[in-house]
Amino acid sequence: MSATVTMEKVVNLAKRRGFTFQSSEIYGGLASCWDYGPIGVELKRNVKEAWWRDMVRRRSDIVGIDCAILMHPRVWEASGHVAGFTDPLVDCKKCKQRFRADKLADAQCPEKPSKHPGECGGELTEARQFNLMFKTFMGPVEEDANVVFMRPETAQGIFVNFLNVLNSSRQKVPFGIAQVGKSFRNEITPGNFLFRTREFEQMEMEFFVKPGDDERWFQYWLDERFNWYIRHGIRRERLRLRQHAADELAHYAKGCADVEYEFPFGWSELEGIANRTDFDLKRHAEYSGKEISYFDEESKERFVPYVIEPAAGADRATLAFLVDAYDEDEAEGETRAVLRFHPRLAPVKAAVLPLLRKDGQPEKAKQILDILKQHWVVQYDQAGSIGRRYRRQDEIGTPFGITIDHQTMQDDTVTLRDRDSMQQERIPLDRLVDELKRRIEI
Ligand code: GAP
Repeated sequence: MSATVTMEKVVNLAKRRGFTFQSSEIYGGLASCWDYGPIGVELKRNVKEAWWRDMVRRRSDIVGIDCAILMHPRVWEASGHVAGFTDPLVDCKKCKQRFRADKLADAQCPEKPSKHPGECGGELTEARQFNLMFKTFMGPVEEDANVVFMRPETAQGIFVNFLNVLNSSRQKVPFGIAQVGKSFRNEITPGNFLFRTREFEQMEMEFFVKPGDDERWFQYWLDERFNWYIRHGIRRERLRLRQHAADELAHYAKGCADVEYEFPFGWSELEGIANRTDFDLKRHAEYSGKEISYFDEESKERFVPYVIEPAAGADRATLAFLVDAYDEDEAEGETRAVLRFHPRLAPVKAAVLPLLRKDGQPEKAKQILDILKQHWVVQYDQAGSIGRRYRRQDEIGTPFGITIDHQTMQDDTVTLRDRDSMQQERIPLDRLVDELKRRIEI
């Protein structure tokens, strides 16, 4: 059965089963900030790990980096964020709330929700530019000279380390530098659960190419990134590529396309792939006074590489995987949720379930649990009927159930149940780890 998935159903399940909790909930919560619970943290780690594996570990032309969140303030002048990372804002003189001037048609008047801001009788001020970067102070003195920014993207840490990576690794253009880490934006209209928050994690890769080769690599990364989501279980029909029109392009981009997902609230950006040209490296060369270029030994040419950037959000991708996995089926007259995650992303890979709480079955199950724990996150459950226990696991998307029964005690075999087909197979214990590996790594 393919269920109608709503954000309400996903948010409720996420809280009930420990995927996410609202930040500082016991104090009334902090708007649009979310904490990942015991199950959610595993899901998000698996998403990041799958990205790192395909973008770094399995390739010889991409290396990783992990930069500080706080960077020299000049970085953000060079990148254009100080001058241009802004949204136009208007204030309502009546209710004193702020709105994005370019999104008034999507906003509600807080006092008269059936109307848009400005249509309720309240007068709106002229639009003013509001910078989205969070500011803080470095050191004990809170003065302008000590202002630093919480990075709004991970990309700039990569650009300012271009020469360091080039000189300390054996990479030659074309090559990429990847980073996963927190970014912060003081968004005016956060919302839709994990979709737009003020603190989030990005998974970005800057791929440096010879000018002239950029169009080809742009297309390569569009295909690669689009297919990555499909390989990890996202339904093809809920995914599309949307090319940006010329007037939508960021100041640094020659071309850009978004991988979009059809969330319950509509088609929205999951990841942006941009041709950033040589903008960033040239700006950092100009602002730092250091020469930033690349000497190609083969052609004996020196040039400033162009950059193709696939920029994804870890939280947004986690939300898309969660929404896409959501399904419902009926058992014993009741509707229940099943999360059909790709086994590699599933937070818990297997549940070990003794059929009876006697005859040595719990002890045997715990021995098996200890073996599987060496490889994966697995759970033990002996409470309630076997049907209920399967259902509890289906709700968090556990792809495999391993049942220990009377026969296990005689011949060292277990039953292996598949979450989606619900088929059960008898497997000798000494083949269990290999069999799970085979099924998880598909
Ligand atoms: N370096 C380019 C860059 O940062 P972006 O389109 O602004 O580009 C890349 O961000 C990705 O980061 C987005 O596609 C999205 O997945 C994620 N992202 C951006 N802002 C976000 C927010 N406020 N909350 C959650 N994820 C966000």
